[in-house]
Amino acid sequence: MSKIKMKHIKKRYDDKNDYVIHDFNLNIEENEFIVFVGPSGCGKSTTLRMIAGLESITSGELWMDDKLVNDVEPKDRDIAMVFQNYALFPHYNVFDNIAFGLKMQKHKKQFIKKRVEEAAEILGLTDYLKRKPKDLSGGQRQRVALGRAIVRDAHIFLMDEPLSNLDAKLRIQMRKEIINLHRRLGTTTIYVTHDQTEAMTMASRIVVLNGGYIEQIGTPEEVYNTPATKFVAEFMGSPPMNFLEGSIKNNQLILHTGEVLGNLPTTFNDLEKVDIGIRAENLTVTEEKQGLMMTVNHVELMGADLHIHGVVNGKEITVREDPKNKVSVNDTLFLKTNVENVHLFDVQSGKSLFEREKVEV
Ligand SMILES: Nc1ncnc2c1ncn2[C@@H]1O[C@H](COP(=O)(O)OP(=O)(O)OP(=O)(O)O)[C@@H](O)[C@H]1O
Ligand SMILES: [Mg+2]
Repeated sequence: MSKIKMKHIKKRYDDKNDYVIHDFNLNIEENEFIVFVGPSGCGKSTTLRMIAGLESITSGELWMDDKLVNDVEPKDRDIAMVFQNYALFPHYNVFDNIAFGLKMQKHKKQFIKKRVEEAAEILGLTDYLKRKPKDLSGGQRQRVALGRAIVRDAHIFLMDEPLSNLDAKLRIQMRKEIINLHRRLGTTTIYVTHDQTEAMTMASRIVVLNGGYIEQIGTPEEVYNTPATKFVAEFMGSPPMNFLEGSIKNNQLILHTGEVLGNLPTTFNDLEKVDIGIRAENLTVTEEKQGLMMTVNHVELMGADLHIHGVVNGKEITVREDPKNKVSVNDTLFLKTNVENVHLFDVQSGKSLFEREKVEV
């Protein structure tokens, strides 16, 4: 089993409380690497645990291949899960930690040995099989936790923030290792994180969650370039997207200060109020004394990029520029942007005005 279909899935923990997952719909194809991303409390772990069978489904249908699995026991679901706070047994060595699940399932000794050695080979742990967890680095311990999932030979991997205990450098290394592992094994994977960079760099498709609702499902490119909602626009990308207030009249985009940004590429009805989203890389400092006037309040050299923070029309704005620009705090700069690159959102619903939403049923 490796395809997953989620149809109108809802979850509430008890009758007195509201739903924490509202109408979750998603089709996961074989070999996909799906990332659930969203802020704390949005329902990522709850959804993953429903797929694992560790949490009941209040209503809706969960299919794995051609089988409705709502009431199937976790052990019969052909999944392996890696938790955020994986606990290795401190008194067991690496071999026994990886072998634990297989021993519980009462497999033959020779079979267990073969499986553990294969997993150790894949994860680069062959030389460490006799060590205790305390004598391993954080990344090696994490790999042992992954090893436990791999030996199960399940068709679906579920991972709940598996890298959150690691420092930044190790996280980046493990990110690569997990992607390589997926490339090698091809196991359908659902990976949960609240880190948008992990989502962008690892996913074949991203599911952006907010308050128990799906905001958007799409490839990293789709989610970044055509965010369906203001929430997605703000959540995905670093630095976050900038927002200004404006209006649309005769297909011209006008800032609330009266300044005309330009003619919109597609036809829009007049709108008195619209949220205008502009990514930091779509703003450039111009020598001309016209455009958006910005007062600089902070400058960050990020190596290859310069992040200039300041205020435009009372709003905090970040511009990504070439570090060869010499900019200081309190400078007044003029910025220009191409109207082709702006994002427009309905001020009430937060939905993109460019009907680009991707909703699966
Ligand atoms: N056992 C439970 N009983 C009642 N409510 C719960 C339970 N577990 C989670 N919740 C609630 O369900 C909502 C979703 O929680 P969940 O753990 O799925 O969020 P999350 O997206 O995984 O967050 P985080 O990034 O912090 O791990 C939250 O409002 C949470 O308080
Ligand atoms: Mg969680």
